Amino acid sequence: MAIFVGKILHIFEELDSTNRYAQQLLLQGEVVEGTVIQAFSQTAGRGQMGSFWWSAKGENLTFSVVLRPHFLAINQQFSLNQAVALAIHDFLKTFIGTGLRIKWSNDILVNEKKICGILVENSLQNNQIASSIVGIGLNINQLNFENLSTATSLAAICGQKYDLNDLRTELLDCLEARYFQLRAGRIKQLQKDYLAVLYRYGEDACYEKTATNAVFWGRIVGIAADGKLEIMHQDGIEAFGLKEIKFL
Ligand code: BTN
Repeated sequence: MAIFVGKILHIFEELDSTNRYAQQLLLQGEVVEGTVIQAFSQTAGRGQMGSFWWSAKGENLTFSVVLRPHFLAINQQFSLNQAVALAIHDFLKTFIGTGLRIKWSNDILVNEKKICGILVENSLQNNQIASSIVGIGLNINQLNFENLSTATSLAAICGQKYDLNDLRTELLDCLEARYFQLRAGRIKQLQKDYLAVLYRYGEDACYEKTATNAVFWGRIVGIAADGKLEIMHQDGIEAFGLKEIKFL
């Protein structure tokens, strides 16, 4: 059982976005670390890079966790993302035997289809992370993704439906365990674990540079301390930020 993550739990039938609601709470005053805000449906779910997160009503887990990783320097921000992605990977590993990968920076894939998206929004103060809102959208019981052929869910993979409350509790346990690991300063271990399950790590594959539309072959060789993706190509090793590279 988690000690502090999810001890305070706000559940809503519908919200615009659990991340936005958490932001509002933080603006209004003190929020206990580990507070979770869950919604069965979101009308304006936020995805990475300004995208919309679509999730069928009542079928999936969509929630946000408020954390205060004061112990991280600003240039270590990405290690929180790694800890969260690993927590979800740990959780899913208990159900899924093969094909489970973390796709840099923050997606969880099963056989190349996306089962989970993560949106971490940090607020910085005096060169420190004052608070983090960790938004998680994990597809559980949804079977129909209409024209989103690149999405999947736990039910689609395992052939059965699940109780959302039970799964949320188990997932929050995993999240707390990885957060404790991060808080204990075991960043190197997190990095090692992350690379061990990273999609395309060490494999030759095709990418596109967003700025120039140049397509190239390269191999992921690491993650820089600032979270950039390191790809080795014919001219050497180059580090890319989220908006700078497309996986082809
Ligand atoms: C992505 O684009 O992959 C990130 C998706 C994150 C979606 C979750 S759902 C719960 C939380 N609230 C939001 O508005 N977004 C995140």
